[in-house]
Amino acid sequence: MKDEYGLYDSGNKLKLEQLGEYRLIRSSPLSDYPVSKPKLWEDWDAKYTKNDRGSGEWSYRKKIPASFSIKYAGIHFLCKLTPFGHIGLFPEQKFNWDRIRDAKLSIPGSKAEWEVLNLFAYSGGSTMACLQAGMKVCHLDASKGMVEWARENAKLNQLDKKPVRWIVEDVTKFLKREINRGKKYNGFILDPPSFGRGSKGEVFKIEEDLGSLLDLLMILCDYKPKFIILTCHSQGYSSLSLEKMIATRIKNEGVFESSELWLDESHGGKYPAGSCCFFTDKNL
Ligand SMILES: C[S@@+](CC[C@H](N)C(=O)[O-])C[C@H]1O[C@@H](n2cnc3c(N)ncnc32)[C@H](O)[C@@H]1O
Repeated sequence: MKDEYGLYDSGNKLKLEQLGEYRLIRSSPLSDYPVSKPKLWEDWDAKYTKNDRGSGEWSYRKKIPASFSIKYAGIHFLCKLTPFGHIGLFPEQKFNWDRIRDAKLSIPGSKAEWEVLNLFAYSGGSTMACLQAGMKVCHLDASKGMVEWARENAKLNQLDKKPVRWIVEDVTKFLKREINRGKKYNGFILDPPSFGRGSKGEVFKIEEDLGSLLDLLMILCDYKPKFIILTCHSQGYSSLSLEKMIATRIKNEGVFESSELWLDESHGGKYPAGSCCFFTDKNL
């Protein structure tokens, strides 16, 4: 399946991307350096600019449908240009989707027994990868609209008959409820935002809540997760700090592959896109 997403260039606090047939310019506050290929930036179809009220808007040179689909990293994605400047996928997660479907997590027969909890699950890229890999998934997001979007992606990928629970709820409330029910999970995937709101307005602040959220996850796997993928885009959360947050909580031995997330630019550059800690149990 040929990728229909690509990053051309970044700089001047912007990034230039191809999404299916459309060329987009979106804001990228940390790209505070000159662009590498100025000529490429002359051609664009839609541009998202932020205003000083913290939101932003799209301007168009070409009519773009309200929704359309693309193929990327072995997954079909429904894409929409949202009022927040999102497009419906975080392409830098490709590395993790490949790892989920990788041989290391494919112990024949056993994965079908695994239940994975995907938190802050957004449009479900990781949920699709887990279902493709034969795992059961509990997909949670506080936004009803995002869970609907992920369900549409499951249909688009013909994965809607696979074992997945779709949950619209605040992350902490749900975890506490699962602990009370005695529920256990084998793996966890989470991409927490710096700040988010639960389905009833509950506040999630990464610097106040990430540690206690990981404590709850430990109870849900008896402190012995088969794997954890923790990614973060908030300043100050390096891959090493994420690794320490996990290494000091788990009671099983395993392998940490922690690194920055990045996207390759078409001219050979690397675009930094967050931090990742990837843990797997030593017996995998
Ligand atoms: C995709 S993640 C964040 C991705 C990326 N790290 C970022 O900073 O933009 C955001 C998702 O978390 C969800 N979310 C935010 N707060 C939440 C909460 N308290 N409980 C459950 N989901 C939440 C949002 O609805 C959204 O889909």
